[in-house]
Formats: sequence, C-alpha cells, structure tokens
Amino acid sequence: MSDDREHDDSGPPPRRGGLAHRLTRYGDDEFARFLREAFLESTGLTAATFDRPVVGIASTGSDFNPCHATAPQLIEAIRRGVTMAGGLPFTFPTISLHESFAYPSSLLLRNLLAMDTEEMLRALPLDAVVLVGGCDKTLPAQIMGAVSADVPALVAPVGPMLAGWDESERLGACTDCRRLWSAHRAGQVDEARLRRARGRLMPTHGTCMVMGTASTMACLAEALGFVLPGGATIPAVHAERLRFGEATGRRVVEMAAAGQPTARSLVTPASLRNAVIVLQAIGGSTNALIHLAAIAGRAGVTLDLDEVDRVGRTTPVLVDLKPVGAGFMEDLHRAGGLPVLMRRLASSLDTGVATADARRLADLLESWPAWCDDEVIRPADRPVAPGEALAVLRGSLAPDGAVLKRAAATGPLLQHEGPALVFNGLDDMAARIDDPALPVTPDHVLVLRGAGPIGAGMPEAGSIPIPAKLARAGVTDMVRISDARMSGTAYGTVVLHVSPEAAASGPLALVEDGDRIRLDTAGRRVDLLVPDEELARRRERCRPPPAPARGYARLHATHVLQADRGCDFDFLVSE
Ligand code: FES
Repeated sequence: MSDDREHDDSGPPPRRGGLAHRLTRYGDDEFARFLREAFLESTGLTAATFDRPVVGIASTGSDFNPCHATAPQLIEAIRRGVTMAGGLPFTFPTISLHESFAYPSSLLLRNLLAMDTEEMLRALPLDAVVLVGGCDKTLPAQIMGAVSADVPALVAPVGPMLAGWDESERLGACTDCRRLWSAHRAGQVDEARLRRARGRLMPTHGTCMVMGTASTMACLAEALGFVLPGGATIPAVHAERLRFGEATGRRVVEMAAAGQPTARSLVTPASLRNAVIVLQAIGGSTNALIHLAAIAGRAGVTLDLDEVDRVGRTTPVLVDLKPVGAGFMEDLHRAGGLPVLMRRLASSLDTGVATADARRLADLLESWPAWCDDEVIRPADRPVAPGEALAVLRGSLAPDGAVLKRAAATGPLLQHEGPALVFNGLDDMAARIDDPALPVTPDHVLVLRGAGPIGAGMPEAGSIPIPAKLARAGVTDMVRISDARMSGTAYGTVVLHVSPEAAASGPLALVEDGDRIRLDTAGRRVDLLVPDEELARRRERCRPPPAPARGYARLHATHVLQADRGCDFDFLVSE
C-alpha cells in the first residue's frame, strides 16, 4: 500500500504529484509514466500541460438522474475555471443515484457510491477533486468517499429547481407531490388536476427546491466548508450557478497546488456542531442525521444524537421553506443565502472554522452583503415554528434512538398514547393500508417494521399513508413509527430511524396489534407499554431474517450499521 493511502494526523500533508504519481504498477515506473503520457498525447494534450496541478471532477450526471441534467454545463464551467487558474481538469464518472430511480432504495446504494468515489480518488493521479452532485444521497456519499481518501475536495452542488405553480399556488417537489397525492387519495383532488400538477411541480432542471434532503445536504456541505460561500442555494438554471462553477474551478487549483485543506481536515467536532446548528435552523431533513453521522464516522468523529437534541432546544427554525414553512430555495437565495443565516446564528457557531474560500467563518460573515429578507430568514424572536426542527427520542421502543421532525408534526399528536397497528414490511403495508376492513381509528399508532437498514435498505416509507377510509373522513395525520426513513420533503407526526431496527432484533420486532404505545415528545421518549416478562416470551419466538445470498445486497446486510451510526459499513468507519 502506498503512503498516500494512509492518513497521518501529525505529519505534513501528503505529497501531491500530478500525473507523475500513482503510476500503474508494472514494476517499471519510467515505463508506466511513458505509457501514461503516450495515452495523454493520444487525446491531443501537449506535454506542456503535464506538470500542471491535476483536478479530478467527479460527475454524477446520468440520464437516470433528472436532478443532475445540468451537470454537463456546470462541469464545463468548472473545467474553464480550472484551466484559467493553470490546472489540468479531468472529468470522470461515478455511479449516480436518483431518489425515484433506485430500486429498492437509494440509501441501500449510498455506500456503494461512497466506495466508488473513494476508490477512484485513491486510484487516479489527481491532486484535488470537485464533487458534482446534488440529489439526496449523492453529496453525502461523495463527501464520505473524499473524507476517507483524504484529498483536497470542493463540492459543486448542481443546484435546486425553480419553484413550480398551479393557478394561484406555488408548488414544490416533493412536498406538494405528497400533499396532492394525499388529497387525491382522500378524494379531494381529481385525476385531471393531479395530471396537470404533475407537469408543473418541477418546472426546471435541478434538485428538489424545498428544504428536503438535497437542499439540506447542500447547505450542510457549505456549513462544513466544502462549498464556496453562498453556493448551496443558487438555482440550477441561473447563470450565477455557472459563475459559481468557474469560481469553484479556480479555487480548487489553489487547493491542488497546496495539497490542502484535505476533506478529512474539514470534518471536526467544531464544524460538525456548526452543521447541526444550521440543520436545526433550516428545519432540515431527518435524513441529514444519518448522513452527518456517516461523514463524521469517516473522519473519526462521533455525531452525538443527544447533542443534536440539545442544540435543537436552543436553535429555533429560522428559514421559512417547505415542508416546515412556505418558501423555496430560490427564496432563500434571494434572501441572502446561507451566510446570512449563519450570521444570524453567529453567537452559537464556532466562527473560527475555515470556509471553502480559505477564510475564517468570522471574516466571511463580516464581509458578506448585509441584505437579509427577514420574512425568509427570520430573526430569532420570530421563528417559523415553535420549538426545534428535529427531536431525538429514546425509550423502551428505541433504546439507541429515534428521530421526529417535530416542526413538521401536528401539535396535539406530539403527546399521544394509543393502540398499535403493525405492518410487517412494505408489502404487508401496501396490501392492507387501504382495506376498508382495516381495524383502525385515528387514535391508533401505525407501526411499520422490517424497513430498517438490514431489513430493507431503509427506504423512505416511514411516512406511512393515512389509511384511505380515515383520509376520506378528513384525518390528515396520525402517529406513525418505523425503522424506515422518510423524505426530507415529507411531514406529519412520524417517528423514524428506530434503532435497533426489527431485523436486528430491536424492540420494534416485538410489538403486536393492540399493544399500547406512548409518544412523549416533551420527555423525548417513545415507549412500548408491555410488561418485560411478556416481551421476554415474545423475544424467544423472534427470528431475524436471513441475509441475501450474494452480491452487494449481502455485503450491505452483513456490514451495515444502524441509523444512529449513519448506516455506513462497519469496515469503512475510521477509528
Ligand atoms: Fe433528486 Fe429530490 S429527487 S433532489
């Protein structure tokens, strides 16, 4: 193993050597270099360029990823910036993940993209990389890979879509996709209106423009110092996105020449805490807790879920975006962008951390334009929602934790006790949820199990549909509990990420129809009110599902960690 595969906290940054390093092992380095340069000349490059700093541009552009349709233009702008600054750009592909084009679940494949990215960053003769992604799992996977490979890295998000519209309504993916679908199920929206809205929910290329997982992860990447200031919020189709790409290209050449900062050095307890504060203030996606834990794990840092909860108690939701509020990413961008929000939060943040343009956060916040739209980025005394965005629960049903997007829940349901109605996996849920004979009342607690990281790759199925007969009667929310995730664009009183999951023999596996379950959000507990002796009897009958026989599915099922540890593979976490 060569020395640049190893991370050494104490020593100088690893030597970066452009095209002359990481030579293919033939046992003859001179020949390997001769051969490489011959292939380079075959592309039309001249030898005068061979000594330039080499910048890799990791592309997740794919026809199967509509969110990344603008990746080619953005990459062209990044290449222009790299060349202008004296670097040599090389674009290379990795796999791409889109939420609606990844069976059975994009999270199942996130670690594969992280491994793909990491191994290409280790194998290719590059001095720094720009990671071009955006759709939910792509940015976290790319950052995980870059942190493990420990190369200088910038992130260039493809950017969010512009908002859609229908009649007098502004619409956004996918909060309004879900809202309209629920209304359709309840008989309130007819087929024609639904079809018309389908063509208007996503009027441009880009990532979902509400504060879903893609927007959340772009904001957190900027907070961690991976994105040039202000870059998270620029719409995908604005010319400013291309100028941002060019600036990213110029900056990354400086990093390539200096060999720093490396991706791992950006992920520290201080930057991670800043990211958690931003997450709570933007009313961000519950998925971010999984991704932040995984990114932290790659850097040898632990994301403390109880600290996430403590931060939430003192950090109100200030950004007025759906699903918690009303606006869209273009509104946040016009309102001043993430630096303005971070200035509002400055007294809580560690402003000594570095930004992606090599300043201290304090200096950036001082020089960033003063303009702020107070309706979109609210002052602390006028938050968007009372209380914190994300609450972390524990209790007899979730000994290692569970997450509730409190700000998107229904107030009266936050303290609730009711009988369980259990679904064993997604197929069971799909088969019975709309059965007119389903014995369910609005008081029931809907439980979905077998949908955790081992059980099903943790799909976004946690926002269990309201049973059709209740939806038609006007019920819009119920307490729902699962070991699954939910989309960052979704809403409701939904307890997610229950750890350990049912397939890991967690208490969720022991719940039976009619058991009483108590959700006590104020006390941060979710409890199964069944005597211990009875649970012990049920545990004896409980059998975990068999692992898949082969391939990546087997690797995943046998090595994936639980949600509280980011669902990374146990052999990829850094000590
Ligand atoms: Fe790609 Fe929402 S599906 S960002």
